[in-house]
Amino acid sequence: MRPGDSPAAYDGFADTFAAEAAGSAYNAHYDRPTILPLLGDVHGQHVLDAGCGPGLYLAELVERGAKVTGFDQSADMVRHARARLGSGIDVRQHDLDDPLDWLGDEAVDLVLAALVIHYVRDRVAALRELHRVLRPTGRLVLSTSHPTADWLADGGSYFDARHVEETWTGGMLHRYLRQPLERWVEEITDAGFIIERLVEHRPAPAMAQHHPREYAKLSREPGFIAFRLAKNAVPHPCPS
Ligand SMILES: C[S@@+](CC[C@H](N)C(=O)[O-])C[C@H]1O[C@@H](n2cnc3c(N)ncnc32)[C@H](O)[C@@H]1O
Repeated sequence: MRPGDSPAAYDGFADTFAAEAAGSAYNAHYDRPTILPLLGDVHGQHVLDAGCGPGLYLAELVERGAKVTGFDQSADMVRHARARLGSGIDVRQHDLDDPLDWLGDEAVDLVLAALVIHYVRDRVAALRELHRVLRPTGRLVLSTSHPTADWLADGGSYFDARHVEETWTGGMLHRYLRQPLERWVEEITDAGFIIERLVEHRPAPAMAQHHPREYAKLSREPGFIAFRLAKNAVPHPCPS
């Protein structure tokens, strides 16, 4: 349970999610191969993983020499991540809708927010907190469901903004926000970030062998979208 709140949506599904996401089309062959290169060389960097889930990204980052801190709304996910990473790693239960009052200003070099922002109630407030804890040269890398994919799945007008509910395998109620790309960009820039790169995921070649149906679909239409966001504008040299 979240302190004083209802159970988090992913409570009870951490083990199932972890087992699936380790080799799934959408996580192992689509999101991680897109996001890890966007993070760049993390060796010696302090990376905050917001919505870290069972710690699959944290493990990759530690292997690449990063110092990591992770948090997740779900106590079960936190337990799972701690078991994966061992006691030396700081993984805590925290809701991205609450202020990160346990982190000082400019405390981390990089923030990763993979597949979590569409669950957050006040995205601008959450993004402002991530902006605050980043060093001046820091970057936030985030991925979410592609607005076109949400529109194709949920129907109506592409420009609709609403919460969508689906029941996933095992009975998990999945409630996420769909909104047009223009709105995502507004929220990101309202929080103070500068969009450095926008990437529409492509399936990794290995997906063709392991998940041929998903590979065909994701080669044809987008599933996820990613942004690399800079805390501050990178100064360009003045033309002489
Ligand atoms: C699809 S999983 C992604 C996990 C991990 N980032 C990854 O890509 O492997 C979404 C995660 O976000 C977490 N989550 C959802 N809403 C959250 C919130 N408001 N604050 C923190 N974590 C949240 C869930 O508990 C779950 O672990």
